Amino acid sequence: MSEPVLSVGVLISGSGSNLQALIDRIADGSVPARIALVISNRADAFGLQRARLAGIPTRVIDHREFPDRVSFDRTMIAALQESGVELVCLAGFMRVLTADFIRAFEGRLLNIHPALLPAFPGLHVQQRAIDAGARFSGATVHFVTEEVDAGPIVIQAVVPILDHDDAQTLAARILKQEHRIYPLAVLWFAQGRLQIVRQRVQIRETIEAPDAYLLNPSAPDTY
Ligand code: GRF
Repeated sequence: MSEPVLSVGVLISGSGSNLQALIDRIADGSVPARIALVISNRADAFGLQRARLAGIPTRVIDHREFPDRVSFDRTMIAALQESGVELVCLAGFMRVLTADFIRAFEGRLLNIHPALLPAFPGLHVQQRAIDAGARFSGATVHFVTEEVDAGPIVIQAVVPILDHDDAQTLAARILKQEHRIYPLAVLWFAQGRLQIVRQRVQIRETIEAPDAYLLNPSAPDTY
């Protein structure tokens, strides 16, 4: 018998490169999942074309056509439930979700954020990390809770901030790592290895690296 396949819904607003990474890792057999539905709140999101090309059902649910967030979110909840979605992945979805939505998918709702949370929640985070003089930034996959960008963290990838970086060069460096860690988080979820214990996510059968460290700029081993 083949492995059970997790049914995933993905919410996007734009380019959808994280959606693409997930499509690719599912296609090459790395992640035992299928994307049952992609929802975009924007009809012109490039990610919709990526989904269509992969034969994935899409829906455009334009938030501007709803009187309030609650009715917009209810329409998305219904669409996701009708598709039998077990996990919802936010992948560059630029709307804040209501408590209704978050409760409907509690413990089954992931987001990716282009900074090392809890530092730099919110918007324009690459520029803010540069302006703050941080030596590192990165990407965070986390469960979504009602406080924006504050849910339990599944995995983070760290990248250096270089002297000549601007928001675009840093975003590109971070995005490369996003494409690795988001599919990995979905894989772990699909395998039932993630358990939220208070604010911390415990991941069964992962290898911890107690001596791991990074220096930026780098320094000789003698220090
Ligand atoms: C990514 O940087 C993600 O971390 C943030 O929005 C961006 C989406 O990029 N939430 P894409 O649409 O997946 O290319």
